[in-house]
Amino acid sequence: MEIIRTVSNLISRVNSARQSGKTIGLVPTMGALHDGHLSLVNRARNENDILIVSVFVNPTQFNNPSDLETYPRTEEADVAMLRNANVDIAFIPSVSEIYPEPDTRIFDLGPVADVMEGKMRPGHFNGVAQIVSKLFRMTQPNRAYFGEKDFQQIAVIRKLVELENFDIDIVDCPICRDSNGLALSSRNARLSPEKIAIAPQIYKTLLQAVTKSYSETVASVVQFVTQTLNQVQHLDVEYFTIVDSATLQPISEWPKEGNPQAIGCIAVFCGDVRLIDNIKFPLK
Ligand code: PAF
Repeated sequence: MEIIRTVSNLISRVNSARQSGKTIGLVPTMGALHDGHLSLVNRARNENDILIVSVFVNPTQFNNPSDLETYPRTEEADVAMLRNANVDIAFIPSVSEIYPEPDTRIFDLGPVADVMEGKMRPGHFNGVAQIVSKLFRMTQPNRAYFGEKDFQQIAVIRKLVELENFDIDIVDCPICRDSNGLALSSRNARLSPEKIAIAPQIYKTLLQAVTKSYSETVASVVQFVTQTLNQVQHLDVEYFTIVDSATLQPISEWPKEGNPQAIGCIAVFCGDVRLIDNIKFPLK
């Protein structure tokens, strides 16, 4: 595996792969890699000739300076994991390599970016669009892989692809969970053992919400999830919203056969660690 740290080296490597007709897969990450990332990497490995994984904690997508500061950074372990997974190129640039000048671009990402994470973390998705558009230009991938834990992020990236006319397949990959149901996330590394024991309540409650959805209204399922989790010590729900999985806009009625599914998206503070998760509701 090659470790590339500069944009110019990356571009010349990508150009020579392209010239010899090779397909390129990109898995963009912020490092602190876990089995969820590995599932994206393994899938991308099978589907492309050249596999690039970027490891870059992108400052422009953090609206909270302490979140950026405490974001886990584990480069040595990440490199070992990527080597093991037979990755061709680990792209690990510095902040000044990616942003030699401040990035002042504003993307018109539309309504998918205005709700939930977009509302709670102003500027977050614009920062994601800045880095992902740069990575797409630098790596020119045929396919790019994203995890469904960040369900809204995938919708935003599809919008970015449309806005910027990128000819790239966006491949969404299912959420990976611990055996106790907790969605794998780099931020889980910041949970104390006490909080690790509590956090699986989130998924447990989302599963109960699916059962309730057969007999209860959208509003009462929202209330159930919010109240149940807020009653658990150390959990504090920031939002739980049931949205149309295509538009990401909140719904008030369960969709019927033939419509996009409903998806419940949640952000919860577990102590001082903010976790997100989501669950799809079957069509009624
Ligand atoms: O999902 C992430 O880890 C990040 O938002 C991404 C897509 C790597 C951009 O920094």
